[in-house]
Amino acid sequence: MTATPDLKYAERTDRSMRPSWSANRGYLNAEHEGIYQATRELPGWQEEGDSYKLYELGYFAGDVILEIGVYGGRSAVVELRGAVANPARARPPQFYGLDLDPAAIVRSHDTLQAAGLSEHALLYCGDLRHFVHDYVIRPTMVFVDGDHAYAGVRSDLDMLAEILCPGVPVFCHDYANDENDGGEYGVRTAVGEWETAGYAEFAGAFGCGALLVTTPRCRGPYSGLTADKFAEQRTMLLRNAGVLPESSSQVFALREELAVFRDLLDRSEADRAARLEVIQDLQRRFEEFVASSAEAARDFESERARLESAIKSLEAQVELMGTTKYAARRLVAAAARRAGLHGRTKRVR
Ligand SMILES: C[S@@+](CC[C@H](N)C(=O)[O-])C[C@H]1O[C@@H](n2cnc3c(N)ncnc32)[C@H](O)[C@@H]1O
Repeated sequence: MTATPDLKYAERTDRSMRPSWSANRGYLNAEHEGIYQATRELPGWQEEGDSYKLYELGYFAGDVILEIGVYGGRSAVVELRGAVANPARARPPQFYGLDLDPAAIVRSHDTLQAAGLSEHALLYCGDLRHFVHDYVIRPTMVFVDGDHAYAGVRSDLDMLAEILCPGVPVFCHDYANDENDGGEYGVRTAVGEWETAGYAEFAGAFGCGALLVTTPRCRGPYSGLTADKFAEQRTMLLRNAGVLPESSSQVFALREELAVFRDLLDRSEADRAARLEVIQDLQRRFEEFVASSAEAARDFESERARLESAIKSLEAQVELMGTTKYAARRLVAAAARRAGLHGRTKRVR
């Protein structure tokens, strides 16, 4: 039994149900024939042609299934049903299902458990890049149904080119959808670029998906760790073995501490500059206040002098008035005496 399809269809608009392995005469078994009806109520989105193809892929190539975007486990059930149905399968199938949404992991687990398939499934919360960092697997088939935007599909396909062997079937969902025309989806564009770059060959359109088969351009089999993980593990093991001196781990720790310290310094420098600005502002306002107070004091002093002299002049006038009134009173009294009117004049005030 080969895991690589031996039937290919160049026509991209024919999306009918037809086999990709010549050993398949149309339907592999009764379950295959009824798989769409049997799973249509499960959470997920499938056309009849999608379910037809995923079951067939699981049947022939389902040793190690990788699915990007499980949502609720509907496609997972179809693929695993096909995989466990093949009597020639030497080992139980392994299904690796990825999703960014933690709720999708729980939902898919419930679906798989209800279908009696959860023992075959490893559900991973995260994207393909992180999955590949954490696990080294050699998928025998892939269902790409995660991020449908161009950048997301492109990133998944680039990553697959790093880990897949030649001859692996890769089913890309929603390739035929209208959303690709307006750019909402980038599945068709990213798949086209993957083909043009020589990583895979088009093998037919089914349901709303496109089937591709990887070429020798794909860099797998990749049984090594990713570059990051390799460096991380290497350092850790050497340190544990005492080969890397403790000082080297201290250097790492110090480097980290230094980075934290530098960050603190940057922040306190910014803080210091802000405080300095406030102090300078206060200083400027204080000097303005002192200057304006001195001016006010000068004004006050001249006003006080002006008032003082006005008061003095008033006092002098009052004094003069007093003198004048006294003199007038004496003149009037003298005149009265001369006129023999002493004691009969009114008092002059
Ligand atoms: C269309 S649904 C999958 C349906 C499912 N394959 C089925 O047919 O039953 C897409 C899922 O992909 C997930 N997803 C989106 N971007 C992703 C990414 N970069 N990696 C993994 N999963 C992603 C979403 O959370 C969502 O659950």
